[in-house]
Amino acid sequence: MASRCGKPAKLESPSLISYWFTTSQHPYQHHHKDYFPPPGKLNVETVDTAWNHPVYTEAQMRRVQLAHRNATTWSDWVALATVRSLRWGMDWITGYRHREPGQRLPARFAMTERKWLARFVFLESIAGVPGMVGGMLRHLHSLRRMKRDNGWIEMLLEEAFNERMHLLTFLKLAEPKWFMRLMVLGAQGVFFNTFFLAYLVSPRTCHRFVGYLEEEAVITYTRAIEEIEAGNLPDWNKNGTAPDIAVQYWKMPAGHRSIRDLLYYIRADEAKHREVNHTLSNLDQAADPNPYQVTYRDPSRPHPSKGLENLKGAGWEKEEVFK
Ligand SMILES: [Fe+2]
Ligand SMILES: [Fe+2]
Repeated sequence: MASRCGKPAKLESPSLISYWFTTSQHPYQHHHKDYFPPPGKLNVETVDTAWNHPVYTEAQMRRVQLAHRNATTWSDWVALATVRSLRWGMDWITGYRHREPGQRLPARFAMTERKWLARFVFLESIAGVPGMVGGMLRHLHSLRRMKRDNGWIEMLLEEAFNERMHLLTFLKLAEPKWFMRLMVLGAQGVFFNTFFLAYLVSPRTCHRFVGYLEEEAVITYTRAIEEIEAGNLPDWNKNGTAPDIAVQYWKMPAGHRSIRDLLYYIRADEAKHREVNHTLSNLDQAADPNPYQVTYRDPSRPHPSKGLENLKGAGWEKEEVFK
């Protein structure tokens, strides 16, 4: 089939995602619309953030690996089964199928830059919810029980902020249209309320759920990186550059600002969320301080930290952190 200009029309698979999750016609460019123009105040240069992102080295980001924490309790199994069901449902609805190395899939499963962006935008709009719900509920708990929280609230809110930065970054690359917006609206309404109620009942299960969700996020970004590195996303290979919002947030060094580099940063964040939430699930939700906010008496012993040093895919056990 040829397009009107005589060039072969770009074959886009007729899967549901290409109709429902329509994004920009030029997903790798970001000059079509400025979602976040600088505030129009004469004396305002920039709006600064309270949360500075730790600097990741390239070697640290390359070392990030897929990981899975074995489910051992009923709470773990509930969390894992929920995540697996959601992943299966999402893949089914969006017509996504993972291609194993060397495997050929029907054309409708080919992942284009636009399809990856639609997936990222939708998932990141969901990923920003749990940290905010957890932080909010712990904040309210601290107020009404008149007790210290011991450092959990700030970190959970920062996680929500970090996920929102992922979303804002992708929105600089893609312009969601009405159907995507509707999907995000509906998903947020359902997910926020469900997670809110679940966190009231069992915060431990909720953190395990997020840990498993982040395992899936690391898988998703690893696959996208592999697709770029295999040359299957030529627009990103040729034209893609990380938007300024990302360069500033992750402090991306010059010469390392491609879309591939960007996905390495985001994947590393997801690996950190995976570790943090599995660790939090291992702790006493009411009594233990946040091990990422603690000053340790013996800092030479390996301990949880905000950067990528000592990254643990399955999280830290309580006994490893607090003796
Ligand atoms: Fe994310
Ligand atoms: Fe995440």
